[in-house]
Amino acid sequence: TGLVTLDAGYGNTAGVKSAITYLDGEQGILRYRGYPIEQVAERGNFLETAYLLINGELPTVDELAGFQTEISQHTMLHEDVKRFYDGFPRDAHPMAMLSSVVSALSTFYQDSHNPFDEEQRHISTIRLLAKLPTIAAYAYKKAIGHPVVYPRNDLGYVENFLQMTFSVPAEKYELDPVVASALDKLLILHADHEQNCSTSTVRLVGSSQANMFASISAGISALWGPLHGGANQAVLEMLEQIQRDGGDVDSFIRKVKNKEDGVRLMGFGHRVYKSFDPRAKIIKDAAHQVLSALGKSDELLDIALKLEEHALQDDYFVSRNLYPNVDFYTGLIYRAMGFPTSMFTVLFAMGRLPGWIAQWHEMIKEPGSRIGRPRQIYTGVVERDYVPVEQR
Ligand code: CMC
Repeated sequence: TGLVTLDAGYGNTAGVKSAITYLDGEQGILRYRGYPIEQVAERGNFLETAYLLINGELPTVDELAGFQTEISQHTMLHEDVKRFYDGFPRDAHPMAMLSSVVSALSTFYQDSHNPFDEEQRHISTIRLLAKLPTIAAYAYKKAIGHPVVYPRNDLGYVENFLQMTFSVPAEKYELDPVVASALDKLLILHADHEQNCSTSTVRLVGSSQANMFASISAGISALWGPLHGGANQAVLEMLEQIQRDGGDVDSFIRKVKNKEDGVRLMGFGHRVYKSFDPRAKIIKDAAHQVLSALGKSDELLDIALKLEEHALQDDYFVSRNLYPNVDFYTGLIYRAMGFPTSMFTVLFAMGRLPGWIAQWHEMIKEPGSRIGRPRQIYTGVVERDYVPVEQR
């Protein structure tokens, strides 16, 4: 079909130009606006990172304070939003609640539907960043049948999320600084990753000039799948399954290599990284640190370490350049922090939000930006005559 070439899964096709994130998969390099991920994770905090991704530069002290204040003034959800949660079944997956409620924000903020209104773009950005942790914490409270805990503006971004999630009105809540700082770092590591599935989804939906809430809600849905953000939940379920089967790592690896029932080693492999995932390196160290700081030993960590060791020596994985990715160790940390497995991908979404927003802004501001409209190679019947139903 003329000039149209097939590139399944967009392995070689760039659909956009972007100045946000640099990724070199051969060398395992990841940079946000030019800053190496190792430095951002070590020296920065999540809100600074969000500011950097969205605005292109690190904030000054005053800019950061202004950004934080503005976000803290928008953390509450309209009381009517609580009724959405009343309607969801108790065992609803929190990712389903997250994407639904984010989409529903567009019903409350109808002034923000025009993507070319700069002021509305700004306020939508602040609202999304401010409200996603509240939406996520409400989803968790719904699942365990507890009353929601309202946001507190005297707390930092992550601290506020933790208190909305883990505090209960009947008890005094003591925030664990180890948990807060580890979670902040994990959010930074997830903050952007150029044109991955969910980010491309946000851009594609946004390219039709749909509003930011609708675009981000679609991104959350794309993130949910087990080959993308849902991998962190899938990794933990895999480790638990291996534990139930007596901890036999060898036989699991064999299953993966034989592709039995399409079993994959979850948390391994990446479309772009072919040497190592720099985020996985940082997270592996963090997993050890957090677990020992929280005084938790986890048999699943031992299984994970064994799996990694076996896989890295096995020709199946070596020849296919399959290495641990960002999701391999995150679940173990989230679990040690007290999050249920179903919340893991929600934490990924909270981390990825600034990236989605930054990419949406870049897309909408790009001069001459066009609607995303991939082509196809048609493989169906070329032409045939229509037969009325009674003659078929
Ligand atoms: N376990 C076993 N085999 C694998 C795995 C795995 N995790 N990943 C890829 N392969 C094999 C695959 O079967 C294929 O083998 P063959 O050549 O014999 O057919 C070969 O490696 C190439 O795989 P592919 O599916 O063409 O690779 P892809 O670039 O399309 O997929 C991936 C990338 C991340 C979806 C895939 O590696 C995968 O499914 N990994 C497990 C899920 C996972 O951890 N996802 C999180 C990704 S990182 C976080 C994020 O950004 O979302």
